[in-house]
Amino acid sequence: MRKMITKAVTVTAVAALALAVTGCSSEREGQGGGSADAKGFAADSLIGVALPSKTSENWVLAGDLFTNGLKDAGFKSDVQYAGSTTTVADQQNQISAMITKGAKVIVIGAADAAQLSTQVKQAKESGAVVIAYDRLITHTKDVDYYVAFDNFKVGQLQGQALLDGMKAKKPKGPWTVELFSGSPDDNNSSVFFNGAMNVLKPLIAKGDIVVGSGQSDVKQTAIQGWKAENAQQRMDSLLTSTYGSGKTLDGMLSPNDTLARAILTSVKGAGKPLPVVTGQDSEVESVKSIVAGEQYSTINKDTRKLVAEVIRMVKALQAGKAPRINDPKSYDNGVKVVPAYLLPPVIVTKANAAEAYANDPKLAPLTK
Ligand code: BGC
Repeated sequence: MRKMITKAVTVTAVAALALAVTGCSSEREGQGGGSADAKGFAADSLIGVALPSKTSENWVLAGDLFTNGLKDAGFKSDVQYAGSTTTVADQQNQISAMITKGAKVIVIGAADAAQLSTQVKQAKESGAVVIAYDRLITHTKDVDYYVAFDNFKVGQLQGQALLDGMKAKKPKGPWTVELFSGSPDDNNSSVFFNGAMNVLKPLIAKGDIVVGSGQSDVKQTAIQGWKAENAQQRMDSLLTSTYGSGKTLDGMLSPNDTLARAILTSVKGAGKPLPVVTGQDSEVESVKSIVAGEQYSTINKDTRKLVAEVIRMVKALQAGKAPRINDPKSYDNGVKVVPAYLLPPVIVTKANAAEAYANDPKLAPLTK
């Protein structure tokens, strides 16, 4: 059975980010000191980027940004996606091919956090640096850095948005909710869920929030493969089993936009009133839905910033410097604590959408 590694200590992450803001030394690139060999490599080296299947828009965007950004920085790149059926094997083979081609850094958005030990070991043996992108790689010492948005914070923001949205519609509880979480093979899924439960659990304990179906364990709420059809199926059966008799459903914790829209489709199909639904990723259709007053919230994790941070890391490694990190403590992958650079996520509702997307040429026009 796969073990989910959750973020070790939230408090330390907050403290580390606070330190970063005040400009501690780990924010700066420097000579040595990182977990990877800081020897440097040729400026036109090959950089491999292995992304999971395109389960949300951010992955599609990331691929283009890596291809263009690495080229602009003078590197050769090999950017690959896992397919949607033989996902894990695809990614394993792609990483092996990158090693054979002599990639100096391999950036990985893991298709399955726990299934890459052999490939990252081979990568390290070949002298490459391994960077986990967005999703942590677990159960291996052979991952050097982690670059992501603060995933625990994402979950906390989702839990708080769910509560705020329900309060705005119905000022006093108890509120009835259902909980969804992401794919069990993605380490982020439990981190998002734990972040949200950090906000919701005390209210559940007090009886202010009631999980109508009683399904509040991450295993019961998981949606395999982050697939919309799986979310819609679970929602359809929850509506039949628990809400058939006209019981009101006030809110839905959804870990991302794809699943949020699947949940809304299911509720609409059943002809029920729309609950408050959270999300993540700022996908085009969800931003439209938020502006139209259907989906309640999403999270803005600007992929442009995340990719830029990785490319900054690659450039530092190329120059033989230790890349900057701002969280040396929080991401324990079961074997080691992976030095991380975390970016702050932003919650978006109808109220702040225009402001949140002001600098996003694709999303800004949707909020006008
Ligand atoms: C990412 C989310 C995304 C999900 C499904 C997660 O690992 O952090 O942004 O919604 O994968 O693609």
